[in-house]
Amino acid sequence: MTQDELKAMVGRAALAQVVPGSIVGVGTGSTVNCFIDALATIRDRIHGAVSSSEKSTERLRAHGIAVLDTNAIERIPVYIDGADEIDPRGHMIKGGGAALTREKIVADLADRFVCIADVSKRVAVLGRFPLPVEVIPMASAQIARRFVAWGASPVLRAGVVTDNGGHLIDVHGLNITDPLAMECEINQWPGVVSVGIFARHRASLCLFGGPDGIETVSYTSAS
Ligand code: 5RP
Repeated sequence: MTQDELKAMVGRAALAQVVPGSIVGVGTGSTVNCFIDALATIRDRIHGAVSSSEKSTERLRAHGIAVLDTNAIERIPVYIDGADEIDPRGHMIKGGGAALTREKIVADLADRFVCIADVSKRVAVLGRFPLPVEVIPMASAQIARRFVAWGASPVLRAGVVTDNGGHLIDVHGLNITDPLAMECEINQWPGVVSVGIFARHRASLCLFGGPDGIETVSYTSAS
């Protein structure tokens, strides 16, 4: 099976996580695009969606799925999104598609985060994938220097402006053994909009697509 076929398979499998009649939280990326296409087949059975990016909003609307304002919603039962890496406790690196800030906002509204990914995203320790950090443009050099002081290599993502008008720094060479502590620390730095470590908002469940089908992994509070 190709990687695209694996993504299509998990996108379809995620339909089983959608609560009928509810508002669905929708992430961003190529795996989520497959989920959105699958969601279109049951669009009459949901109330609508809240979206984590302009790209996903466009795709949802093109399928005739109503996209609601996050400010009008108190809670949603489930948020479905991909990841760039996921560790054995459900902590993730996200932001490869530049949507990390809105992804975290929608994840924060949700009772459960269901991650959909192909098996290649599974890692023992986060950090091989460069960590995306969205920053206020005037702070980018100062924030980059902080990463250099940690021995890491920050690279400004050329030509990218996020949906929020921010810039992105991709940080290479981190070994994220304590995702929660690192997320909290980076969040304190002036000018950081959000960091692509999802530890406070880790996955509750992950559907991994692999050559043998779907593996469902549930992450409990004790894991
Ligand atoms: C976007 C993200 C995506 O979930 C992540 O990059 C995975 O994308 P894909 O499904 O295309 O591999 O965090 O900001």
